Amino acid sequence: MIEYDELIDIAREAREYAYAPYSEFQVGVALLCKDGTVYTGSNIENINYTNTTHAEQLAVHKAVHDGHRDFDALAMSCSGEPSAPCGLCRQTLSEFCDDDLAIIVEDLDAFTLGELLPGAMENID
Ligand code: THU
Ligand code: ZN
Repeated sequence: MIEYDELIDIAREAREYAYAPYSEFQVGVALLCKDGTVYTGSNIENINYTNTTHAEQLAVHKAVHDGHRDFDALAMSCSGEPSAPCGLCRQTLSEFCDDDLAIIVEDLDAFTLGELLPGAMENID
């Protein structure tokens, strides 16, 4: 069983792969599936800004593409001031994760998805 400290370490390593020449704010995440598999993501920016992929989106979409839809925790590591996932990413997580998903932000705190996105739209399944 992976510890949250280890998940944070993996998120920090994933941050190294961020492509963030515009904001210079690198983000790395590690997403723990219920079967123990870990998916990573980092932010990948675009010159038009809009096409930027957030680290959380990349990790969730990689996992779902590989057939994983059940998650226990997300660890996040930021290059600047620690930040919890943005509103867009909270919504992306809520598509596949329950309110009790643990969100651990390096050097900040641990939250649940339900705390960060109360009253989310109901999933259809
Ligand atoms: N970013 C993420 O990757 N995840 C978030 O939830 C917050 C923002 C990225 C997007 C952009 O590349 C940079 O951080 C600054 O907003
Ligand atoms: Zn985001």
